[in-house]
Amino acid sequence: MKHFTSANDSADPLVLARQTIALKNQKQNFEHLGRSKTLGLVFFNPSLRTRMSTTKAAYDLGLNVLVLNVNGDAWNIEFEDGTVMDGSSQEHVKDAIKVMTGYCDIIGVRTFAELKNREDDYTEPVLNAFLEYSEVPVISLESATLHPLQSLADITTILETDISNPKIAVSWAPHPKALPQAVTNSFLQWIKFIEAEVVVAHPKGYELHEEFTGGFELTNDQSYALDSADFVYVKNWSSYSKYGQRPPVSQNWTITSEKMAATNSGSFMHCLPIRRNVVAEDQVIDNSLIYKQAKNRETAAKTVLKNILEDIN
Ligand code: CP
Repeated sequence: MKHFTSANDSADPLVLARQTIALKNQKQNFEHLGRSKTLGLVFFNPSLRTRMSTTKAAYDLGLNVLVLNVNGDAWNIEFEDGTVMDGSSQEHVKDAIKVMTGYCDIIGVRTFAELKNREDDYTEPVLNAFLEYSEVPVISLESATLHPLQSLADITTILETDISNPKIAVSWAPHPKALPQAVTNSFLQWIKFIEAEVVVAHPKGYELHEEFTGGFELTNDQSYALDSADFVYVKNWSSYSKYGQRPPVSQNWTITSEKMAATNSGSFMHCLPIRRNVVAEDQVIDNSLIYKQAKNRETAAKTVLKNILEDIN
């Protein structure tokens, strides 16, 4: 594996999930793989799970870790080529990446969608700048359109339950702020590799790009999606067609215990962080797979880093 920015970077995402399950149960020590090597983690946006789980995974593999929070801790970065940099930007992205990757053997980057211009976000300018200028493997720690480490942890969590051919309801849920589509896009990209019946439910106006929803059943009826579901994967996202907006929603899409009662004793899933009693009721969240998903982030990151280290060693 050279880079890890999407399911397409893995020869077989299902094999990667099976490797993640196997690695969890393996007592073998892999610290020699990362010895004298450095992982750089560059954050343009906040993080709890990605930061901690990837750092822990790196330490387990013997890697040193350098973390840079770009906003506040670094110079203001210019992304446009050919700009006369006489304004507030102090360093060009090309120079920053070439310097940072000079200190690292692998580099991870988190860069969220800005939700101002769809074309800008969906062409992934920051992630692609890392791919262009980095001379070392690049890992996405969540980009404008995808969150592959989360998705690998999510499908691993589903596979671990050993439910064959499950029904998976993917449901939009309310949120007070406009959020990117990355987590849901990515989950749909990865879930294609599992034998499952997938139904995607969202209010009108919240249709996702067909690159991700193609082949799945789509509905505006949340109760239809949840009926007999084995897993209820919940996330908020803003509109793709009216990009970054939050079209009004008349019905209540919060996941309640009453709604979960219509599932097949289904498991609630969410990537976290979650707004309690907005996205889902406390009782739903407290009886869910969320902590297993978060824990699996550690082994998912370890699996990806291990694959990359085995290739570069
Ligand atoms: N799910 C996830 O990526 O969490 P963080 O934003 O806290 O890293």
